[in-house]
Amino acid sequence: MTITIVGSQLGDEGKGRVVDLYGESADVVARYQGGDNAGHTVVEGGNEYKLSLVPSGAVRGKVGVLGNGCVINPDTLFDEIDTLRERGLDPDVRLARRAHVILPYHRVLDGIEEDAKSDSDRKVGTTGRGIGPTYEDKAGRRGIRVGDLLDSELLREKLEYVVPQKRALAENVFGVSMSDTIGGSSDGVEIGEAFDIDALHEQYERYGERLQEEDMTVESGEFLASRLDAGDEVIFEGAQGTLIDIDHGNYPYVTSSNPTAGGAATGTGLSPGVVGDGDIIGIVKAYLTRVGSGPLPTELGGVVGDTPDYDEQGAGENEDLAGYIREEGGEYGTVTGRPRRVGWLDMPMLRHAARTSGFTGLAVNHVDVLAGLDEVKVGYSYDVDGEEIFTIPATTERWGRCEPNLRSFDGWPEVDWSEVADEGYEAIPENARTYLEYISDELDAPIYAVGIGPSREDTVVIEHPFE
Ligand code: GDP
Ligand code: IMO
Ligand code: MG
Repeated sequence: MTITIVGSQLGDEGKGRVVDLYGESADVVARYQGGDNAGHTVVEGGNEYKLSLVPSGAVRGKVGVLGNGCVINPDTLFDEIDTLRERGLDPDVRLARRAHVILPYHRVLDGIEEDAKSDSDRKVGTTGRGIGPTYEDKAGRRGIRVGDLLDSELLREKLEYVVPQKRALAENVFGVSMSDTIGGSSDGVEIGEAFDIDALHEQYERYGERLQEEDMTVESGEFLASRLDAGDEVIFEGAQGTLIDIDHGNYPYVTSSNPTAGGAATGTGLSPGVVGDGDIIGIVKAYLTRVGSGPLPTELGGVVGDTPDYDEQGAGENEDLAGYIREEGGEYGTVTGRPRRVGWLDMPMLRHAARTSGFTGLAVNHVDVLAGLDEVKVGYSYDVDGEEIFTIPATTERWGRCEPNLRSFDGWPEVDWSEVADEGYEAIPENARTYLEYISDELDAPIYAVGIGPSREDTVVIEHPFE
């Protein structure tokens, strides 16, 4: 049996906490895409864990797999593992030998390209982790994979092919000098270091040795299939969200992988049948947040200093409300600390997500954050170019022209949420249940869980797929 966890919006919907919730009965948790651009929070017994690469099941001691669809920065992975060990956990993480490796030049190129776009509305607002450039190299058939780190000669051969190209791109196309410091940093690390074949070879060979010593690499499809054959329960932990999916999101303001459910098959080496036989749970934040650029029709006010064009939408209007929700929900990026843009729930977005991934259930988080507001709104359709539409247009330019038609719900009061967690669904304030049931009806998927606070205990569980 499998559960696939998919972000239905723009990331940060609370996927980590749902993985942790159902992870209780799971044996293996596998990431299928993305890299250390993710920041998944698990709050347990007063401890908060922010996980970037280590699958969220680690908090419960479950085996973690980084599938072939992931891009892995060994530097941040080992840091994260070591930090978790210092905190008393014992993460058991296996890396797909087919997964691609993020190298220092990928991060540098990510920054260079963002800088080059910074005066226009083309800037994506990436996390700066080198995600896009690494997936580019994967698609360009010049990437370095985890398996390559285990073969010193092969690694050198591949670096000798690719690094001069990357260096030429930085120097000749973007006009960057190798003696500049990385990101204008004060620690004096020169850009040239990220393009130094000898240094890269030495460092990444060492990472390969550690992977081998700790027996961390696997053929992910085979590994997962054998665990499923043995009767294990497996969670596929999506990162990011549907609207930043490279195919189904608002291109180009997207990440470079497929967070949608199809990614769980291609990104692990299991068949779509295996994924489809299990549950696919859409994670919904009860409102909307976004870090980075791109349209947001139901936005409640811009974040000053973010991106030039799209964040002007709605700026000024409802700023206070956006600020209130941002503070109540702690809406600052897990990875970058950037303030998240805030908006009302967007039903065209959720309909698009439900269709793309085929949600069999929903987990709606942050219901507590909206408590105390007089009214809560959702955008149920858009008006654009003289027509009313109910799903997301394929072009981002058209999406940028969409005006939401809002529907208002009566707000619900602040209550003792720990009591609600003890008593169950019926104890959720009636107006909040009306809101939840509206979402469920619209998406034709039952509510499996409701988040009423950040901690593991602050959850109302209606359905437990593994039980
Ligand atoms: P993810 O990337 O989808 O795993 O989500 P993040 O961890 O980046 O962001 C979600 C944030 O909201 C984290 O700080 C969580 O601790 C917090 N959170 C998750 N669910 C709830 C909830 O139901 N209520 C509240 N108040 N906070 C929540
Ligand atoms: P989790 O898994 C929210 C956004 C970035 C940027 C765009 C591309 O925690 O939900 P990238 O660095 O991936 O090339 O950036 O995608 N982004 C996220 N936004 N949550 C995330 O992950 C994100 N990962 C990337 O802000 O707009
Ligand atoms: Mg996050």
